[in-house]
Amino acid sequence: MAHRIWTTLCALTFGSAVLAAPQLAPRATGSLDAWLASETAVAREGILDNIGSSGAYAKSSGSGIVIASPSTDSPDCECQTFDLTGEESDIADYYTWTRDSALVMKTLVDLFKNGDTDLLTVIEEYISTQAYIQTVSNPSGGLSSGGLGEPKFNVDKTAYTGSWGRPQRDGPALRATAMVAFGQWLIANGYTSTATDIVWPIVRNDLSYVAQNWNSSGYDLWEEVNGESFFTTAVQHRALVEGSKFASQVGSSCSYCDSQAPQVLCFLQSYWTGSYTLANFGSSRTGKDANTLLGSIHTFDPEAGCDDSTFQPCSARALANHKVVTDSFRSIYTINSGKSAGQAVAVGRYPEDSYYNGNPWYLCTMAAAEQLYDALYQWNKAGSLTISSVSLSFFTDLYSSAATGTYSSSSTAYSSIVSAVKTYADGYMSIAEQYAYTNGSMSEQFLRADGTPASARDLTWSYAALLTANMRRNSHRYQHKLAKLLDEWVGSTTTGGTTTSKSSTTTTSKTSTTTSSCTTPSAVAVTFDVIATTVYGENIKLAGSISALGSWDTSSAIALSASKYTSSNNLWYVTVNLPAGQVFQYKYIRVASSGTITWESDPNLSYTVPAACATTAVTISDTWR
Ligand SMILES: *[C@@H]1O[C@H](CO)[C@@H](O)[C@H](O)[C@H]1NC(C)=O
Ligand SMILES: *[C@@H]1O[C@H](CO)[C@@H](O)[C@H](O)[C@H]1NC(C)=O
Ligand SMILES: *[C@@H]1O[C@H](CO)[C@@H](O)[C@H](O)[C@H]1NC(C)=O
Repeated sequence: MAHRIWTTLCALTFGSAVLAAPQLAPRATGSLDAWLASETAVAREGILDNIGSSGAYAKSSGSGIVIASPSTDSPDCECQTFDLTGEESDIADYYTWTRDSALVMKTLVDLFKNGDTDLLTVIEEYISTQAYIQTVSNPSGGLSSGGLGEPKFNVDKTAYTGSWGRPQRDGPALRATAMVAFGQWLIANGYTSTATDIVWPIVRNDLSYVAQNWNSSGYDLWEEVNGESFFTTAVQHRALVEGSKFASQVGSSCSYCDSQAPQVLCFLQSYWTGSYTLANFGSSRTGKDANTLLGSIHTFDPEAGCDDSTFQPCSARALANHKVVTDSFRSIYTINSGKSAGQAVAVGRYPEDSYYNGNPWYLCTMAAAEQLYDALYQWNKAGSLTISSVSLSFFTDLYSSAATGTYSSSSTAYSSIVSAVKTYADGYMSIAEQYAYTNGSMSEQFLRADGTPASARDLTWSYAALLTANMRRNSHRYQHKLAKLLDEWVGSTTTGGTTTSKSSTTTTSKTSTTTSSCTTPSAVAVTFDVIATTVYGENIKLAGSISALGSWDTSSAIALSASKYTSSNNLWYVTVNLPAGQVFQYKYIRVASSGTITWESDPNLSYTVPAACATTAVTISDTWR
């Protein structure tokens, strides 16, 4: 029943936000490309510098603790919430926020999945640290009495007991999303027991909090409005949908996710005003706010098309809103003067902002770019784009003869529109480039009068925003190209007092890397794709004749992932590293929510792992029999 409501109301599945296929047309190399090439390294380092305990600016922090910024001035002030006078001495970001940390860690997980395997240690430390922080009693409550909504902690992992805008209910949702993204990778690579025993218990706590509290008011992501916030509701919905899927992948379930997600989605609709997305209920402002751009990009689902109900980046609603929000900053910032609609501008939090006198923020400006890169990805994937009466004014700014209708990718109008959107998106990144320090450092804000960097220095979130926007911009260049599998999840990791080692079913052989001379692989990443129609709660696993596939023992079978499963493409998949030349037999099994196992019909399937030179990965495509 829950499943039926789910598919009717939500009609979407969240997949990995890491994009794989070639999509955007190549772009001429220019100064932005050159800057991004160096700036991505600066941003990566800028993030790691702000993570304890090895980060250059975070040495006094616990391991895995992400500080918001190295700024330590007047650490007892309450500037972010209550003081709108904008005195420089009021900056106090030497704390760890659940929200910022989760957004930063999601970025690192995406980079890790794209092959930056050096990030594994810091991801593990974050997970271990969050397992502990969840248990720290604080002014919002204890683990099961509201404490997960506490916005920030001291860097030594103790509770911050001063007054603050609390609770903030987006943090647990964002942490669940970051953890699930990593958990999906673990499952896809055979570390299912790690996902089950270490990641899932943390995620479950956060999902439980979200399901119980989404319909209670709290402070928004800017820590100012106590009410209901679009960003918070949007990321809560994503967490519940992805969390439920993750629960089933680890052999559990999340009935409260299933019952609450459709209601959260319904509530999300109420933020749509008809012409733009209202940022908050409970505020006297216009509600035009980069909160809504961030909401769209942080719930972007490559499988969801241009769905309006989830405000996907290419939806008519989100594009109309992009125009309204960015236009609201054109006339108020001196550095935007002379830039008419359709030209990129510096973007702040909201036009009425007076914190630090109200300035553009790097992360808001780059969010405006990222939303458009996401849209380009979707149009390219769909092979068309649609202009509706809702989104028309967004398009006419960029292409004056735009009219409502659907444009096929083979049309010249489509090419012109896509090219204009790409130029427009790059314009926002170029503004970040223009106002960053020449050494690449990015603070929180840049002054509205002349663009001088201002407020908290080296803001971790600014760097994360640069990296996610760049990943989406380059989605055609990224492949799931993990050069090597990890052998160890640091031996063992503790969660809530229990110690677990990695899965006994894990294969630990390394993928051979392609070199210019021809090499014979020692192991090959074999992806098993199977089309299997399942009902909610069922899982598909892989059993086979070799130990890597559990030696026909169903309790050691490899779980497949449903993260790409849609109603039109019932795909389950898993990638297993197997020795080159290995011959084996296998079959898929169906595991009901009750645990009952159904084998595929005979015969057993056979396969020989290729050993041809330079082979690193192959895909087997099957259909459930
Ligand atoms: C709770 O949900 C109802 C129904 O969607 C909505 O009208 C109300 O504003 C929500 N309140 C909060 C605090 O989310
Ligand atoms: C970059 O330059 C600014 C301004 O001179 C300075 O404050 C900052 O520390 C520098 N950042 C790095 C990483 O060197
Ligand atoms: C499939 O393999 C299993 C395990 O070796 C064996 O018991 C079974 O008879 C095989 N099925 C067929 C049809 O050969």
